[in-house]
Amino acid sequence: MTGIYFSGTGNTKYCLSVFLGSLGGDMFSLEDPKAIAAIADSGNIVFAYPIYYSSLPKIVRDFITKNKDLWSGKNIYIIATMGLFSGDGAGVSARLFTKYGANVIGGLHLRMPDCIGDVKALKRSAERNKKIINVARLKAENAAKLFSEGKPAQEGLNIFYHIAGLFGQRLWFGHKTRVYAESPSIDSGKCVGCGVCAEKCPMKNIRIENSRAVGGNRCTMCYRCFSLCPKQAVTIIGKKVFEQHHIGKYL
Ligand SMILES: Cc1cc2nc3c(=O)[nH]c(=O)nc-3n(C[C@H](O)[C@H](O)[C@H](O)COP(=O)(O)O)c2cc1C
Repeated sequence: MTGIYFSGTGNTKYCLSVFLGSLGGDMFSLEDPKAIAAIADSGNIVFAYPIYYSSLPKIVRDFITKNKDLWSGKNIYIIATMGLFSGDGAGVSARLFTKYGANVIGGLHLRMPDCIGDVKALKRSAERNKKIINVARLKAENAAKLFSEGKPAQEGLNIFYHIAGLFGQRLWFGHKTRVYAESPSIDSGKCVGCGVCAEKCPMKNIRIENSRAVGGNRCTMCYRCFSLCPKQAVTIIGKKVFEQHHIGKYL
């Protein structure tokens, strides 16, 4: 198996590593130039991403469509992570992969801590987050066992999930992931120009000007810059920093 993932704050990377733990196989971020060759060389792919507004992060959708010739004939198992609910989290990429000739063999939904740290809703205690991660780990391990027995989970893939995703969120908020955002906002009074955000941004959407970070207009809203800023100077959807989530705090 070859694992391919996108992960803003580490949840999805962690879940994929648990799933592949017993099955074996290498994993690559879609930001890694080696990912393309790894996909081309493998017949069996586990593709993992976080759900944004019951839809795909723009960076993930673009990766799938830009490389549309890569998917034909591949067996693809999809892992979608989410803070609470996605409806058809795995289904949104499954439909694209199928369109490009892939054989979608399974889908797994894993609930993880919410990463939108500048909105108060869904913020949980550290203890609660640890429990959520533990439940997700056990579910991913069990899904890997079932997969190895030829019984891959089918979450997110049928019409009922599709309807739930559409009416639960996508009809109202799905447009937010159709284009890149003009973000992040950086408080120049707090920013010290350390450059961590610019270095880690998967979209290369942050530059340093006059010793201060400045956001551009190609933000995929992954919250990596937000979660890594040592001065809490970054916001994306909200205006205040409530919690800088990163999976590393819990492992
Ligand atoms: C812009 C944005 C939108 C999100 N929308 C949803 C959502 O619709 N439903 C949900 O359950 N979680 C949602 N989340 C939470 C993430 O899917 C969740 O925290 C995920 O595990 C983060 O994965 P990562 O750490 O690999 O980036 C959203 C997160 C972001 C940043």
